[in-house]
Amino acid sequence: MTALLIRHPRILLPDGEFLLGDILIQQGKIVQIAPEITAPDGSNIIDATGLTLLPGVIDPQVHFREPGLEHKENLFTASCACAKGGVTSFLEMPNTKPLTTTQAPLDQKLQLASEKCLVNYGFFIGATPENLPDLLTTNPVCGIKIFMGSSHGALLVSREAEIEPIFARGDRLIAVHAEDQARILQRRQEFKGITDPAIHSQIQDETAALNATKLALKLSQKYQRRLHILHLSTGIEAEFLRENKPSWVTAEVTPQHLLLNTEAYEKIGTLAQMNPPLRSPENNQILWQALLDGVIDFIATDHAPHTLEEKAKGYPNSPSGMPGVETSLPLMLTQAMAGKCSVSQVSSWMATKPAEAYKIPNKGLIKTGYDADLVLVDLDNYRPVLREDLQTKCGWSPFEGWNLTGWPIITIVGGNIVYERGKLNTEVRGKALQFGKN
Ligand code: DOR
Repeated sequence: MTALLIRHPRILLPDGEFLLGDILIQQGKIVQIAPEITAPDGSNIIDATGLTLLPGVIDPQVHFREPGLEHKENLFTASCACAKGGVTSFLEMPNTKPLTTTQAPLDQKLQLASEKCLVNYGFFIGATPENLPDLLTTNPVCGIKIFMGSSHGALLVSREAEIEPIFARGDRLIAVHAEDQARILQRRQEFKGITDPAIHSQIQDETAALNATKLALKLSQKYQRRLHILHLSTGIEAEFLRENKPSWVTAEVTPQHLLLNTEAYEKIGTLAQMNPPLRSPENNQILWQALLDGVIDFIATDHAPHTLEEKAKGYPNSPSGMPGVETSLPLMLTQAMAGKCSVSQVSSWMATKPAEAYKIPNKGLIKTGYDADLVLVDLDNYRPVLREDLQTKCGWSPFEGWNLTGWPIITIVGGNIVYERGKLNTEVRGKALQFGKN
């Protein structure tokens, strides 16, 4: 593998400061960071003058649909979207077909990913009311996913009596989709017949989210069990966590829960439909503050593609979910450039903190000895999100038309360039992520 020298970017260092310097990559690792480095013979040199070098994004919650739902997305198209979006590693959810609830489907996913993925990959095992032994033994997984609500079939584990044994046994990270299924079912009946997609946010309301988050936290406290709360959507949950979050609990928020709200239904209809639903603009503000204050630890996209045909079925037959991996970094960097937060905070929320939370070694920082998973972004130019540029197979984004900066110019995975100025290198393959013990 030839050495790679990146010349003169603004390099984000682990202390949050920037160094205008050079960075040398050999054998997939960062070997030197210095104001000036002499290129070893035969190295590949990138002139990155004017660009900013950040650790590659680790997206800790995505749905990539393979196997079984490839009409929406597959591991190749999704990982192309990752490469274009500066996402160098992802953690994928178990609601594929077959469900990832035992070792065999996990092995199948790992095999498919090794053949198809341009970026690094890791997978959750999904809890069912019956698979406790598998939750304890299946390997390698980044954690156990519990759909407390908003799911159906085997992956729904909604009753306390079913959830508690999962918290009681083992020590793996438990990641919860926290919505109260009983309340959702009851409200679905109350609002039956309404086809305006805006009703989605009232059916799966803030109380449904809060009830489930409180239950997960109660069980985590009872068993001192490592808990991660996925896609926090409401201010009341954030305020509850501000008062009650133990040191072993983490929470995440999506860019769409920070930047979109119930006003989006009028503009994009069912494309704004997701679980947990979008909330009011006041919730955007409270979630932002919780993120800035560290109550919310990091960012995930919940990339959940559905086809435009499926979305056109009309509420309530339209599926919930929206894509996100190729817009998340520019969306957040645009917020940083607008003064809402700093570039180093964005990088901490999108790379460093996810690596820490899931105990992924040697990733999430630009540091000697760390893996060369990197993204060079341009913070000086603005470009709109255009449907024709998208790599995700579903072919749409809820952010179409948004004018963003911080677009990736070059994405590097394990020292290999996977994306450069509009072109993907589809020859490169990522690696299976490793996860330390809690
Ligand atoms: O909106 C959502 N869609 N939320 C989820 O948690 C699941 C996802 C999907 O898989 O479509």
